[in-house]
Amino acid sequence: MNVDFCARIKLDGDSPIPLYSQIMESLRKAVECGQLRPLEKLPSEREMAESLNVNRLTVRQAIGELVSDGVLMRRRGLGTYVARQKVEQGLNKLTSFTEDMISRGFIPATKLLELQIVPADKRVSQALGMSLDEPVIAIERLRLADVEPMALEMSHLPAARFPGFLLRNKELAYKSLYEILRVYYRVTPTVAMETLEARLATVKEAALLKIHYGSPVLQRERVTLDHEDTPMEFVRSLYRADRYKFMVRMGK
Ligand code: GLP
Repeated sequence: MNVDFCARIKLDGDSPIPLYSQIMESLRKAVECGQLRPLEKLPSEREMAESLNVNRLTVRQAIGELVSDGVLMRRRGLGTYVARQKVEQGLNKLTSFTEDMISRGFIPATKLLELQIVPADKRVSQALGMSLDEPVIAIERLRLADVEPMALEMSHLPAARFPGFLLRNKELAYKSLYEILRVYYRVTPTVAMETLEARLATVKEAALLKIHYGSPVLQRERVTLDHEDTPMEFVRSLYRADRYKFMVRMGK
């Protein structure tokens, strides 16, 4: 975006609507109608203030609100950019990350962070209907779309049900977990119960997801059942709140 764009923003000094709010709405509309494109850089606050003939603090306030709304993003030391559009994820269908990304035209990728057999803790054993300390396969993966980190997933599967799973470590780096379960174990995820809640990223999570420590993330937990209604997977997925919004269709 160059400063000429600011010349097109018409501000009304007599309006009861504060100037920062008028600037904010003009920028928001420009993003919505595609006049300003995702990842486009905005002029500096000083340049915008000069071009709009307003105080720099007025511009700062407008930009600050749009950053909080997720319309713009600040990159430390680099400036302000138009944020990318969020991935809209439906919650009505049991899908895999791989399917979700492919259906949106992204190239899914996985970084396998951990694969081991561990004793089930209280939460995992309850979710999977197992006894405490029974062996479970713990799989931690960073999920990427077009090389960008989108989610961090920790899945637990009952170890007795998936013998030899640890040998699949190489495949897990490029294949869908659900595909591996279907192809090698003839187990199909059929039903899932999920919860969704917001929290802040820890230092480790933020580093992996390439967001700032303390940024908001959306935590989704899923207990997946097979075609016989037996729990086969417990997953905690952590999605970047700046990249995801969830959508659900409901009827009465
Ligand atoms: C989504 C779900 C997870 C599930 C995963 C499987 O991300 N939130 O609960 O484990 O998909 O994805 P894939 O089969 O691509 O590995």
